[in-house]
Amino acid sequence: MPIMISNKLLITGAKGQVGTELVTQATDRGHEIHAFGSKELDISNFEQVEKTVSALKPDVIINAAAYTAVDKAETERDLAYAVNAQGSENLALVCKKLDIPLLHISTDYVYDGEKKSAYIETDQPKPTGVYGASKLKGDQKIEQICPKHIILRVSWVFGEQGNNFVKTMLRLAEQRDELSIVADQFGAPTSAKSISTCLLDILQSQHFNASQCPWGVYNFQSDPGVTWFEFAQAIFQQANDIGCITKTMKLKPIPSSEFPTPVKRPANSKLNGEKLQKHFNISPANWKADLNTMLQAINNQ
Ligand SMILES: NC(=O)c1ccc[n+]([C@@H]2O[C@H](COP(=O)([O-])OP(=O)(O)OC[C@H]3O[C@@H](n4cnc5c(N)ncnc54)[C@H](OP(=O)(O)O)[C@@H]3O)[C@@H](O)[C@H]2O)c1
Repeated sequence: MPIMISNKLLITGAKGQVGTELVTQATDRGHEIHAFGSKELDISNFEQVEKTVSALKPDVIINAAAYTAVDKAETERDLAYAVNAQGSENLALVCKKLDIPLLHISTDYVYDGEKKSAYIETDQPKPTGVYGASKLKGDQKIEQICPKHIILRVSWVFGEQGNNFVKTMLRLAEQRDELSIVADQFGAPTSAKSISTCLLDILQSQHFNASQCPWGVYNFQSDPGVTWFEFAQAIFQQANDIGCITKTMKLKPIPSSEFPTPVKRPANSKLNGEKLQKHFNISPANWKADLNTMLQAINNQ
């Protein structure tokens, strides 16, 4: 059970999928929020980061900012590294200097997906593209520079804000009756809502920032594990039940080879969340329930 505590929080990337949800939930929990979109605070600019953080002196920084265009990163390498690697380093340097804990979000794309079982935190990262490599570099900089850090690895993020697989499926349902969906990549959809709840529960846990705080890298597990094809099936099933769509979509399972992308996606993206459960008593998310909440919200708009 998280303890009731009000913190002064600085949230970066506040207009993204996770950032928006974080701001809503942190506000509901009574924290003092200082939320910055990319226009207000560019994390790749060290002077800006230092000036903003020094002026505010927050209790905690949550970094939800990132360059997240996986395929585009192959041709925008410098920008991906500026945000994901240099931006993370900038935050780590200022957090270290001012003794501020840094909560950061990482990705399943730091792994190559060749492992047969769910990834644990000590598995060797081996990104297959620029996005994953730039995120890994950011994680490593934070680990090296800022002792008071929590790096939360998540996968397949969806939410009401921004672009994601759920929204793509709903949009495609307006245009087509039949879709081919990749069925040989296994992972776990994870809602922006559950990620935000997890981060706030961590910072409101008994031993957060105490002398024995178990800083480090954590996976956030979401269940059940599925392929993109099975995820699409669940989306259309729920969307029909709720009334977001009123037709039966015909779905065809295809191998990744029939849907080539500039960056090879991990065949297995499933994350094991036992460490998070053990140290912070946080259980895996239930993405089906969160999907239902999202679709209900869309239907009520
Ligand atoms: N999306 C996924 O499926 C997924 C999967 C695993 C892990 N993650 C990780 O989860 C975290 C949150 O992802 P998300 O899905 O919420 O991403 P998102 O919706 O793309 O949001 C990222 C936000 O970061 C902002 N940003 C970009 N460059 C910035 C800069 N230089 N300074 C400050 N802000 C900047 C973006 O603003 P602009 O739009 O103005 O550029 C955007 O609002 C990221 O660390 C991501 O790597 C995401």
